[in-house]
Amino acid sequence: MSNARDLHADIDHILIDAAQLQTRINEIAADITQTYEGEEDLLFICVLKGGYMFLSDLSKAIARPHTIDFMGISSYGSGTQSSGAVQIIMDLKQPIVGRNVLIVEDIIDSGRTLDYMRRNLLARNPKSLRICSLLNKPSRREIDVKVEYLGFDIPDEFVVGYGLDFDELYRNLPFIAVLKPEVFAHLFKG
Ligand code: IMP
Ligand code: MG
Repeated sequence: MSNARDLHADIDHILIDAAQLQTRINEIAADITQTYEGEEDLLFICVLKGGYMFLSDLSKAIARPHTIDFMGISSYGSGTQSSGAVQIIMDLKQPIVGRNVLIVEDIIDSGRTLDYMRRNLLARNPKSLRICSLLNKPSRREIDVKVEYLGFDIPDEFVVGYGLDFDELYRNLPFIAVLKPEVFAHLFKG
């Protein structure tokens, strides 16, 4: 594998390590379990692609019955800034009318994605709708969105790992990290 790129060599520093992630996920899982106590139905909707790893660990940490579905959302733009135009690129397999729905997302930044999702899913008449986001960049918020479960507040830095990508890479890193500045350098070349 001499031509394989070393993802770890691109990392400037780790912001949240794997143990911190698991500890916080267990706390969130306990909160969620308590909120839905006595409710028969619970559906997690994972926002692809970034939410896949968080959904996997969160789902394992929750013993009560629940089902999962996926939604593909694209906020068009390149590099580290989204353009703000949100689009559904893969919709749910089933209606959610009358169901307890929990959106599982990797990060809330401007708030546009989750604002769009909240309005879109509410229009489908679920019994309840809540949002769980692993990461939050409060300083970047443009739209105020209610998020019931938040993992970590982070500074205004572009992060990768644990599902989050830069240019589709780094999702497989088991922690949240900041990349070296030179990794972004090609974006600013003509
Ligand atoms: P929002 O719509 O601006 O809140 O952006 C949310 C989406 O932008 C997330 O679902 C991510 O896909 C992406 N995003 C925002 N910040 C980061 C980051 O620091 N790293 C990787 N993806 C990010
Ligand atoms: Mg995302």
